[in-house]
Amino acid sequence: MLLEGRRALVTGGSSGIGRATALRLGEEGARVAVNYRSERERADAEAVAARIDPAGARAYAVQADVRVEVEVVRMVEECRERLGGLDLLVNNAGIESQAPTLEMSLEVWEEVLRTNLTGAFLCLREAGRLMAAERRGVIINISSVHEFIPWPGYAHYCASKGGLKLLTETVAQEWAPLGIRVLAIAPGAIATRINSALLDDPEALREVEAEIPLGRLGQPEEIAAAVVWAASEEAAYLTGTTLVVDGGMSTYPRFS
Ligand code: BGC
Repeated sequence: MLLEGRRALVTGGSSGIGRATALRLGEEGARVAVNYRSERERADAEAVAARIDPAGARAYAVQADVRVEVEVVRMVEECRERLGGLDLLVNNAGIESQAPTLEMSLEVWEEVLRTNLTGAFLCLREAGRLMAAERRGVIINISSVHEFIPWPGYAHYCASKGGLKLLTETVAQEWAPLGIRVLAIAPGAIATRINSALLDDPEALREVEAEIPLGRLGQPEEIAAAVVWAASEEAAYLTGTTLVVDGGMSTYPRFS
C-alpha cells in the first residue's frame, strides 16, 4: 500500500473523479475525509466513506461548500480533530457550464470561479496551515487540459483552470521550504457526470473520441491512479507542475 496511515481530504468526493480518488486512497491505506457540498450529495458521500471503512474509523463524510470560507475552516478543523491533521488535500470540487461570453452573466462567471478557483484556494490555505505546522504534506489540484487549452463557450471554466495552474506553481514555490508539495493533475475528457450530455450523444461522443489518440474517454479510476502516485513518496521530487492525464488529447493540433 502506497499511502498507509496518510490523512487525506478529498473535496467533491461524492461522485466522479473525487469518488474514485477517495475510494482508491482508502484502498492504499489512507484515512479519508470525503467532502460533499449539500444535503443532495450527503448519501453518496456517506456511501463512499462506508465503502472505505464500514466501521467508520478510517473514513467519514464531511459537508462544506468550498465557496464559503467559514465552512472550509470548519471542515479542516474537523480533519484536525478526527484525523489528527492532514497529509494530503485533493482539491477536486469543480463545476462546469457552457455560456457564450457575450451573453455570460456575472453570476454564471462567479459561480464557476468561486467553486473552481476560490474554493480551491480556501481549501489549500486552510490545509496548508495544518501541513505547515508539521512541515509535510501534499496538495493536488485537479485542474483540466483547459488550464492550457482554450475552449470557446467556456471562458469562465478555462479562466478558473488557468488560474489554478498558476496558483499551483506559485504556492509550490512558497511552500517547498515548508516541506509541502503542490501540484496539479489535468484530466482530459473523463466518463463522469460532468460529461453526461456528451455520453448521451453518440455522435458527439464519436467526435470527441476521434480527437483522443487513445480513442476513448478516460475512466475516473485512471485519474485516481495518478493521484495516488503523485501523493506517494514515489513522487517525492514532484512539485509545481501539472501531470496531464488525457489519453493524448492535448497533442492534437486543434488543441495544442
Ligand atoms: C471538462 C470536460 C471536457 C474535457 C476535455 C474537462 O475539463 O470537464 O467536460 O470533456 O475537459 O475537453
